Amino acid sequence: MPDPRPTPIPENLDMTMIPTHVGVVMDGNGRWATRQGLPRTEGHGAGEKALVDTTYGALAIGVKALTVYAFSTENWRRPIDEVRYLMNFNRGLLERRQHELHEVGVRITFSGRRDWRVPRGVLKRMDEAAALTKDNTALVLNIAFNYGGRAEIVDAVRRLVEDRVPASKVDEKAIRQRLYHPELPDPDLVVRTSGEYRTSNFLLWEMAYSELVFSDVLWPDFRREDLYDAIAEYQRRDRRFGGVET
Ligand code: IPE
Ligand code: IPE
Ligand code: MG
Repeated sequence: MPDPRPTPIPENLDMTMIPTHVGVVMDGNGRWATRQGLPRTEGHGAGEKALVDTTYGALAIGVKALTVYAFSTENWRRPIDEVRYLMNFNRGLLERRQHELHEVGVRITFSGRRDWRVPRGVLKRMDEAAALTKDNTALVLNIAFNYGGRAEIVDAVRRLVEDRVPASKVDEKAIRQRLYHPELPDPDLVVRTSGEYRTSNFLLWEMAYSELVFSDVLWPDFRREDLYDAIAEYQRRDRRFGGVET
């Protein structure tokens, strides 16, 4: 399906400096719902529109990868009904959206642990969406689901041990190769919504030199214009990677 809401590229964006990979901590669904007197879960449902619009918006300006934080390894601590809702919601989201995303060239991938807590039906949909879209090249939509940055590093270390890598050969490259998606470049920009100023265990390794932008918008209200504002802010930053101006 073509973009249902094509928007002109805003004039304040420098099209020669579009970030290749953007990470998004989609936060504030519960507060959005509570403010309207709705149950928290309604906020998660309303976040679908934000995710789809942000994805189309990223596609329109040539972002190549978007990693979105959908469920953290800590989110299992939430009430069982909310966890159950989130599992069903994410399965349904894939069912509802995988075909239109496929048509516009989005490749869907996942980062996270496939442990026993994730219902089999959800894993099945994840595999299906990944297989359907595996040859697409316009944009990678990488969904961080049952994802934790520490868990990702632990999993990489486990693989180092399984691969019998000697201590003298353990370096950043050896670890990076064993992360969930070594083929993706590190995110240039990470955006967190809802006015919280923390990373909450998102992309710990990959974020070492990402620019961080915090938005007060609650996730269900987030649209591509908010992504463009965050990218405009990113473009004003001076990335030095530990070096000095020459
Ligand atoms: C983000 O919204 C979605 C998930 C963490 C799954 P929240 O549910 O954390 O919303 P707030 O932060 O409580 O408002
Ligand atoms: C981070 O949000 C996880 C996701 C957006 C999926 P949380 O709402 O879980 O983070 P905290 O608890 O505020 O740190
Ligand atoms: Mg939250």
